[in-house]
Formats: sequence, structure tokens, C-alpha cells
Amino acid sequence: MAVPFTAYLLSKKGEIPHLDDDLIILLSEIASATKEIAGKVRKAGLLNILGSAGKVNVQGEEVQKLDELANEILLERIKNCGKACEIASEELETSVKLSDSGYAVSFDPLDGSSNIDVNVSIGTIFSVHKDSVLKPGRELLCAGYVIYGPSTMLVISLGKGVVAFTLDTESGNYLLSHPEVKLPEKGKIYSINEANREKWTEEGLRKFIDYLKGEKYTLRYVGSMVADVHRTLFKGGVFIYPADKKNTSGKLRLLYEASPMSFLIEQAGGIGTTGKERILDVVPEKLHQRVPVIIGSKWEVEKCLEFLGG
Ligand code: AHG
Ligand code: MN
Ligand code: MN
Ligand code: MN
Repeated sequence: MAVPFTAYLLSKKGEIPHLDDDLIILLSEIASATKEIAGKVRKAGLLNILGSAGKVNVQGEEVQKLDELANEILLERIKNCGKACEIASEELETSVKLSDSGYAVSFDPLDGSSNIDVNVSIGTIFSVHKDSVLKPGRELLCAGYVIYGPSTMLVISLGKGVVAFTLDTESGNYLLSHPEVKLPEKGKIYSINEANREKWTEEGLRKFIDYLKGEKYTLRYVGSMVADVHRTLFKGGVFIYPADKKNTSGKLRLLYEASPMSFLIEQAGGIGTTGKERILDVVPEKLHQRVPVIIGSKWEVEKCLEFLGG
């Protein structure tokens, strides 16, 4: 039988120096929280948990009931396991300080909220630093996401490559399904919301997208970062959420979207850049700060940087 998630972590203890029992307990709790979220997502229509929660969050977004429920489930489990010293969430204005030292967890409890009510893949993104959430991605101990798609998959890196687990609904375990996830050097897919084309601040980006069209690339855009990055991780190509006239730093948040996803993509052999610097090198100043995101296969990201004059 394929290896269950916690057994896999225990088997890696010697190989990954920072992987101690406390971190294994914390990651197992996060995994359990996402199983609970998956259960709610899969029957949301029957539980009256679709639609708006009737409030606006610190991002200025209308909070969905599932945003709130996923946030509560993760907060509860991470707090109760007693291994975290700080928690940051997209849905919380400030971080929750629990102690002076330990593991600092940042998460996007429900990514792709605009897709919840139309039954399109959504996800949860998480990352773990030592002692403080306000650290660059370069210093991450771990980053991962769960995609609630046709199957529920947990994709994670502890700094030595990327592995993926699939939720086995019979046993209720995440079982190792992809022992090594490597990003193709080059793909044939680009992923960007072209409706914003005229608002992009960089003319070079329009030229790059036109170049890819000339190279017969295809466009795939789900509108859930987890789904678009997951496809990029497995098929190659490039996912872009650029700066535009409205969002001058882009839309995606550094701490719990851009940084963890760049960590995974780079661990799988790709690149994550803001267009000006590697996303993993950006030192966060504010909890919810946004950065432009260009992540994916080396070939496409380096070609994009050429067009941006980077
Ligand atoms: P969230 O649902 O956590 O707020 O994130 C939504 C983000 C991300 O998932 C996706 O890539 C992006 O919003 C899509 O934005 P547009 O609808 O503007 O394309
Ligand atoms: Mn949101
Ligand atoms: Mn998100
Ligand atoms: Mn979210």
C-alpha cells in the first residue's frame, strides 16, 4: 500500500534536518484540517455553506462562507496542536501570536473563492517558517497546498524536492502518489487573465503573450491559483498574475500565495519571479502585501524576463 502522509514524514526525519517531531505533528494537523475542509467542500450545497458570509475581509473581498469555515478549521487545529508560535491567514487582519518561538504558519484557507459556487477546483495554501511569518520564502521550512479537485491532492516540499499525496476516501488517508514532482523544462500552456490585457503596466508582457501565441501555445486559466499552479507544476508552462493599473503590485499575496507557490515551483526545477526579483528573495514588510507573479518552467519564465527587459 502507498505510504500515508505522517508515515512518510517520519521516514524522512533523518534526511531532512529541520524535520523534527513537532513539525511532523504540526503538518499532520494541517493535513487533517484540509481533510475536514475537503469533506465540507464536497457537500457544500447540502450544508448551506455556499455563497457569501455577508462581510468584507481585510483584502476588501466579499468573504464566502467556505472561506470563513476553512479559516476556522485551520485556526482551531493549528492552535490546539500547540506547535505554532504565530499564525497568519488571508482572512485575519493581523497575525495570531501564540508564543515567542516555534513554527510560524501562514495560510490561504480557501483559494479560488470565486469558483466555490460553480463547483470548480479550489484549494488551501500553507507555509511554515521558524519563529516569525514575516520572513522571505528563501527561509521557508516547508510549503504546500491541497487542491480540492476531481481528487483531493496534497502537494508539499520540505526543501528537498516536491512530493504529492492523494486522499484515499476509503481509508481517509493521504497516500503518497507522486514520489517526485519535477516541472517540465518547457511547456505549451500559458495562464493569465487576458481580460486585463490593456491594464498591464508592462508593454513587454503583451509582446511576450503575443509571442507565445505565435509559438502555438494554448491558454488555460481556471481562476484559482492552486489549480493554475498545479497544472503548471505537472504540465509545465507559465502562470502570470502581473501588476496592472488597478493593482499596481499585482493581486496575489506574497505570504500565503506567491511565496509558498514559488517555493514549490523552484523546488520542482522552475522559477518564481516578480519580474524584477525572485519571489523567494522578497522580504515581507506587511502581512498582506501583494507582488506580481510570474512562475513556471525555466524556459518560459526566462523568455518572459527577456521581453520585460529583465
Ligand atoms: P482567493 O480566493 O484566496 O482570494 O484567491 C483568489 C486569487 C487566486 O486564486 C487567483 O489566481 C486569482 O485570485 C484570480 O484573480 P482574477 O479573478 O482577477 O483573475
Ligand atoms: Mn480571498
Ligand atoms: Mn488565494
Ligand atoms: Mn483565499
